Amino acid sequence: MSVRDIQLDDKGRLRHFLTVEGLSRQILTDILDTAESFATVGEQAVKKVPLLRGKTITNLFFESSTRTRTTFELAAKRLSADVLNINVATSSTSKGESMLDMLRNLEAMHCDMFVVRHNRSGAAHFIARHVAPHISVINGGDGCHAHPTQAMLDMFTIRRHKGEFNKLKVAIVGDILHSRVARSQIHALSILGAHEIRVIGPKTLIPRDASTFGVHVVHDLRAGLSDVDAVLMLRLQRERMEGAFLPSEHEYFQLYGLNEDTLAHAKPDAIVLHPGPINRGVEIDSRVADGARSVILEQVTNGIAVRMAVMAMVLGRGNADEGEVRRPGAER
Ligand code: NCD
Repeated sequence: MSVRDIQLDDKGRLRHFLTVEGLSRQILTDILDTAESFATVGEQAVKKVPLLRGKTITNLFFESSTRTRTTFELAAKRLSADVLNINVATSSTSKGESMLDMLRNLEAMHCDMFVVRHNRSGAAHFIARHVAPHISVINGGDGCHAHPTQAMLDMFTIRRHKGEFNKLKVAIVGDILHSRVARSQIHALSILGAHEIRVIGPKTLIPRDASTFGVHVVHDLRAGLSDVDAVLMLRLQRERMEGAFLPSEHEYFQLYGLNEDTLAHAKPDAIVLHPGPINRGVEIDSRVADGARSVILEQVTNGIAVRMAVMAMVLGRGNADEGEVRRPGAER
């Protein structure tokens, strides 16, 4: 079964969220609109809505993460779900238990959702194929393949600042080759109808078939940034590089680092995004990272609302008695 088939239920609603690829514009827009309705929950005195009360969500992280894991945890808690955090490095898989046996045990504890991060591409899809029918899986990043909630929080942040996508020119800059974030961003931007998507980086860090994804490949940073509305920066994913992709970080910064001079080529009101962790002085200068056009910390805040939206949509399907997604304030 393809990822596309597995992530929708028989009524075409999201059952798992494994990749943005193949989803409709309507589903992506629903995620953004639902996230919008959750955005103020974090500003209330009581930062909770009761939508997923009684549900149990397990964070299954096979790879280290700070932002993604904690914002998934906060999202689940703000929806009133119970949350388990399993750090797989210290779990019994390190005592030889297979991943499937671990899943069977978590199912026996009546978990309703697994949020999975793994350094292997396809891991979340594998788990989705093997879980019991009532369990949903959300991909929190798999290898170089996909990071769909990151891409959706980036889209949410862009939409809040810039409105509709069809007028926007967006640049994705840096290590596209190893980036699951870039792959998901490219799918999301093209499904949402962005006017132009440019990918900018050295030849060694851009996949050879990049232009088949409907993006413009540019190797010169200044030319690529010319007139864009949003700049999506990426980290050099050293841990995924086998061999020499770059001369040196210093030289990389000279050619592809975003500083006030290079950013001046974008539109005067262009915003700067980065999924984090940022490497100051490698891909981005501190004056830009901390400057007025950076929305990097807003992305972190928005990540909670977007993850709440996805969790509420996949677990709130179906039976209204069991709490079908009702956005806060929506008519009953
Ligand atoms: C990204 C990831 O892990 O893929 N970060 C994140 O989720 N916040 C990007 C990265 O590690 O560079």
